[in-house]
Amino acid sequence: MKGIVFAEFLEMVEDEFGLETVDAIIEASDLESGGAYTAVGTYEFNEMVSLLKSLNARVQIPIDDLIYAFGHYLFNSLGKAHPEVIKSYTSPIGLLYSIEDHIHVHVKKLYPDAELPTFKILEKTDTSISMVYASSRGLYRLAHGLMEKCFEHFNASATVNYELLKEDGSEVKFDIVQDA
Ligand code: HEM
Repeated sequence: MKGIVFAEFLEMVEDEFGLETVDAIIEASDLESGGAYTAVGTYEFNEMVSLLKSLNARVQIPIDDLIYAFGHYLFNSLGKAHPEVIKSYTSPIGLLYSIEDHIHVHVKKLYPDAELPTFKILEKTDTSISMVYASSRGLYRLAHGLMEKCFEHFNASATVNYELLKEDGSEVKFDIVQDA
C-alpha cells in the first residue's frame, strides 16, 4: 500500500483524535516501517490492518466505520495531491465510470507499484451506476466513503447500496443512485 494512504490515514487520526493517539497506535502496532511513511514509498498492507486494529482498540469505533470515515477523508486528500486526475470530470457518475479505465490507470503511472482494486461496470445511466468492486484487500467501505465524497465534490449526493458477493468483502456490488 502506498505511503500517501498511510500518511493521510495518520493525518485523519491526528485531526480526529490528536497527536497522542497517532503516537499511541504507532507504538501499539509494532510496525516494520516504524510508522514513518513517505508518499511515494510502498509498505505492507498489514501495517494498515495493524493501525486500524490499534485505533479500534483505543477509540472503540468499529474498524469498518473507521475505514468508511477514512474514505471520506481520502477523497479530498487525493484530489488535493493530484488535482489533474479529477479536473477533467464534470459529473460524479462520469468520474465513477472512469475509475477503472482512466483514474486508476493514471494512478499506476504516478505510482507504478500501486495495488489497485478493479471496478467492473454493470450498468450506467445519467443518474445511476452499478459496479462490482474487486480486491483481495476487501476495502469496500473505503470505496463507499470515496464514492460519497465524489458526489459531494460536485455539490451532489447519492444513495449508495452495496451487497457482498464474497463474504470476505473481496467482491462487492455497488448500486449508486444520484439523489434528485
Ligand atoms: C470515487 C473514486 C474512487 C474510488 C471509489 C477509489 C477506490 C479505491 C480503493 C477502494 C482503493 C484501495 C485499494 C483496494 O481496495 O484494493 C484505492 C486505492 C488507491 N486509489 Fe483510488 N479510488 C477513487 C479515486 C481515486 C483518485 C481520484 C485517485 C488519485 C487522484 C486515486 C488514487 C488511489 C491511490 C494512490 C490508491 C492507493 C494504491 C496503493 O496503496 O497501492 N483513487 N482506490
